Amino acid sequence: MYKNIFNPIKIGELTLKNKIIFAPTSMGDNQKKNIEKIINIAKGGVGLIILGDISVVETLQVHTSTLSENKFISYFKKITNEVKKYGCKISVQLFHPDYNVKYVKSLYVNQKKSRDEIRKLLKENIYSYTNELSLQEILNIKDAFVKAALRAEEAGFDMIQIHGDRLLGSFSSSIFNNRKDLYGGTVENRVKLSKEIVKMIKVQLPYMPIDYKLPIRKENPCIGKGGPSLKEVNTFVKVLDKAGVDSFHVTIANHSRIQDTIPMYNHPFLKGEGCFLDLSTEVKKYTNKIVCGLGKLSTPQFIEEALENNKADVVALSRQLIADENWVLKVKDGREKDILYCEFCNIKCTNALMNNKEFGCVLHR
Ligand SMILES: Cc1cc2nc3c(=O)[nH]c(=O)nc-3n(C[C@H](O)[C@H](O)[C@H](O)COP(=O)(O)O)c2cc1C
Repeated sequence: MYKNIFNPIKIGELTLKNKIIFAPTSMGDNQKKNIEKIINIAKGGVGLIILGDISVVETLQVHTSTLSENKFISYFKKITNEVKKYGCKISVQLFHPDYNVKYVKSLYVNQKKSRDEIRKLLKENIYSYTNELSLQEILNIKDAFVKAALRAEEAGFDMIQIHGDRLLGSFSSSIFNNRKDLYGGTVENRVKLSKEIVKMIKVQLPYMPIDYKLPIRKENPCIGKGGPSLKEVNTFVKVLDKAGVDSFHVTIANHSRIQDTIPMYNHPFLKGEGCFLDLSTEVKKYTNKIVCGLGKLSTPQFIEEALENNKADVVALSRQLIADENWVLKVKDGREKDILYCEFCNIKCTNALMNNKEFGCVLHR
């Protein structure tokens, strides 16, 4: 039963005990509670956890742990040690912000702007930041990724996911990127920064599997602004594959409405279970590396069939595992009727996170 889900799979040299991944999921500021949740998800039987949104440079949130400095390595080491006790592998998701952190921070401090005003500022800053970064600043960014990757290895992570959204999504996108140098213009130029980062990490850490979170823009209807368009995916994937990416985590592009990247049950276009699997199916045409699919996945039968039909090689679940961290064990033990099925209402996860309220799930009363 469910042999596709439970057959082990290799990403590079890393073996996952099954094909269920906990998608990168930020859970707010309560680090103690977040770590507990991560450990429970590991106990619940998933093959891999991707620890979401870890910055390679300092961020606006002073209390958030990043991999921008050595002092946080011990914090992450505690998490990786715990997770590994359950035969679960763990990846970090490394990102670089798409705005000038120091500039926005100075506004924050000096002008005492509200949260909403800051959000607006961040969005406005994306264009100028992407297009005005000097070549020296780009070098510094690449260096920050490599240093963060080395720290990640020291902290015991089994894999590195490069977040192809945020700054890399802006560079990738013809909507944001109007650069006139070798990083702008053609598709090959827009993927150049990602390619260089992947290559540089591979030189330093040849055995570390590299996963690339690939956000894809859709036209008609237009969804997402960061990342390559569907028509550009062919080139993007081939370049990154050649640069050394071991797997692709394929989803819809961001930089517009969070309602599209984390779609609710009643989204007008991103309908039904597996709502991004058309994108992973497309990516599989251009690479033999592992491709991860996702989007409102929740039922074992549907996931088994998606894997059987080659829509993806592995799958990632975010909200379903927040709703029921024991999903994998229940499926394995034939206790499907006990699964708490996510309603994709976003109330206590996504919306709570956006409004700085306590993170949770409406099913946990
Ligand atoms: C509360 C919440 C936080 C998220 N945080 C991140 C994140 O830090 N990084 C990221 O790349 N995606 C993040 N996502 C997006 C998920 O990884 C995933 O792509 C999306 O939720 C769709 O999967 P699902 O339908 O299984 O929830 C988050 C999603 C949720 C619900």
